Amino acid sequence: MARVILGVAGGIAAYKACEVIRRLRDSGHDVRVVPTANALNFVGATTWEALSGHPVATEVWPGAAEVPHVRLGQQADLVLVAPATADLLARAAAGRADDLLTNILLTARCPVVVFPAMHTEMWLHAATRANVATLRERGAVVADPDSGRLTGADSGPGRLPDPVEIRAVAETLLELPALAGPAAARDLAGLRVVVSAGGTQEALDPVRFLGNHSSGLMGIGIARAARLRGAEVTLVAARMDHEPPAGVAVRRVVSTGDLAEVMTELAPAADVVIMAAAPADFTAARPAEHKIKKEGREGLTLDLVQTTDVLAALAAGRRPGQTVVGFAAETADNRAELVRLGTAKLARKGADLLVCNDVSGGRVFGDADTAAVIIDRAGIVAECAGSKDVVAHSIVDAVLAHRGHPAHPVTP
Ligand code: CTP
Repeated sequence: MARVILGVAGGIAAYKACEVIRRLRDSGHDVRVVPTANALNFVGATTWEALSGHPVATEVWPGAAEVPHVRLGQQADLVLVAPATADLLARAAAGRADDLLTNILLTARCPVVVFPAMHTEMWLHAATRANVATLRERGAVVADPDSGRLTGADSGPGRLPDPVEIRAVAETLLELPALAGPAAARDLAGLRVVVSAGGTQEALDPVRFLGNHSSGLMGIGIARAARLRGAEVTLVAARMDHEPPAGVAVRRVVSTGDLAEVMTELAPAADVVIMAAAPADFTAARPAEHKIKKEGREGLTLDLVQTTDVLAALAAGRRPGQTVVGFAAETADNRAELVRLGTAKLARKGADLLVCNDVSGGRVFGDADTAAVIIDRAGIVAECAGSKDVVAHSIVDAVLAHRGHPAHPVTP
């Protein structure tokens, strides 16, 4: 159980913070809400108190004998601000201490993560850009807003990400506090990362397809991790059970053929290419134009042909300085066998790094947690286990190490 302070600033997205509290409490965390006075214009104190199980205050004066403006910040394991308005970012960047939340931001010694939400013009304004840069320099993690519908008829970047996304980032920071703090660099800034995710679908006829159990969670985790660490990220998404993370460009694909086409288009401009998707290895030799009828058939034999090996093609065509990462889903009896199979696959595909998962007994597919051994041509470079978001950061660390980056790995 962690102690989380949830700061809420006065924006319309404040209502979404109600669900963030629920989700964090479902994970067993103790959540204290610190709204700004303006936030109470959107959602009242009673709602925050009922959802969090704690009293709320906006100013430093109530209960002054307990010095809450210092104690709350000092004792927290995570300070999360969602939504953060342009005004809150400005006050935080200026180091002001004019209400309880800004006092907490000055006294917190734990990771601080901020989710801005505002109109696109305000988000893109030079003043806001400068405030975000200042907060990041000082070690706060400032997440990207989502793009989409804003209040009224407007649309663009500025939406508060979904509470699922906010919880994912909060949980990762609780496990990997090195992602925040003055020493934490946005160590992927300037790099372009293309990552594929999800399972492809190969049409058999107009209504049926061959597919697989990939949920897309691993690729989504990698896209989220790379974006949080400053990369420009494109997610090439086959069918996924979950939404893409905020702040990444998304290209949707259906079949392995589509995936091959889009990856081949995007790879030349990428510094890092990661194939976390589960492409079908076989596709129908000739998909039926009309629905295959069962009448008059005892059974059905499918005529399948092999698809392109996208990873092998990308590795063969990689440009100098580009890092190509693949995955290996293997059913191995033990770790040595997993590494042996992975090493053979790495050589076959020609990738720089291979993330080897043991999928015996249906493990890994769709699960929130995973375990992996990351190898390069010289052998094992890392072993990791935990949530797919935490493992994603291990993969990012391995990529940076492979690129000779003088990184401070964020994973242990
Ligand atoms: N992959 C790919 N194109 C395919 C099949 C797989 O790019 N047509 C990629 C996957 O995204 C993954 C890696 O290759 O990064 C290994 O996938 P995996 O299914 O483990 O290996 P396969 O090549 O399919 O070999 P096999 O199933 O025979 O073990």
